[in-house]
Amino acid sequence: LNTRTPLIAGNWKMNLDHLQAVAFVQKLHWTLKDAKHEDGSVEVAVFPPFTDIRSVQTLIDADKIPFALGAQDLSAHDSGAYTGEVSGAFLAKLDAKYVIIGHSERREYHAESDEVVAAKTKAAIKNGLVPVICVGETAEDLEKFGASAVPAGQLEVALQGLSKDADIVVAYEPVWAIGSGQAATPQQAQDVCAALRAVIAKVLGDDAAARTRILYGGSVKSSNIASFMREPDVDGALVGGASLVVDEFAAIIRFEK
Ligand code: G3P
Repeated sequence: LNTRTPLIAGNWKMNLDHLQAVAFVQKLHWTLKDAKHEDGSVEVAVFPPFTDIRSVQTLIDADKIPFALGAQDLSAHDSGAYTGEVSGAFLAKLDAKYVIIGHSERREYHAESDEVVAAKTKAAIKNGLVPVICVGETAEDLEKFGASAVPAGQLEVALQGLSKDADIVVAYEPVWAIGSGQAATPQQAQDVCAALRAVIAKVLGDDAAARTRILYGGSVKSSNIASFMREPDVDGALVGGASLVVDEFAAIIRFEK
């Protein structure tokens, strides 16, 4: 049995302004009273838009809410003339623990290459943030190359030059499953997550592979979360749409194997 603490992460994307975010986190916290995340057996993280982070952080801190905070992106640079960018140093000052890197929406709409993803991964680690490195194949890739080849290649580039003890999270998000209602099967998720763990072993060694959490993302909901969590190489979920509905996200966090 592995010792990896499951991570249930809510990527809100460009939804919920800071007032809505505060109300949401309060409601989620009440709904989850006495749930297992309170004893640390599951870690919960929320990834609000940049403009919400300060407000959510203040609430979490004041009410001792056991959720980790993350951002949805960061700059590869620490400061300077990069209009519109937000640095890892700023996020770390706001007590963000995690930062999503290389989400398929950034790869697609902002032309983020594997090299940019690698540079952002290094910037996150340098600033004490845990990168949640997203990889995944499109429907076309799936047809041409099968499920594992593209995500494994993306991850291999992202991990280049990291130290063996780097604290990272990997998220496997097949692009065809994101927001489509058509999740991967648990077996598909397991196969690719196992292949990604093998990439971590190859680049960073067996200890890193055994320690690193690999999440599945793509149309995760309360009715399918348990089936993913039963798979040995799936250590949690990166949830989009369903993380915006309090009862639904709470039910995902309460998943029973
Ligand atoms: O990052 C999470 C995401 O891309 C999955 O979205 O809406 O299919 O859960 P969704």
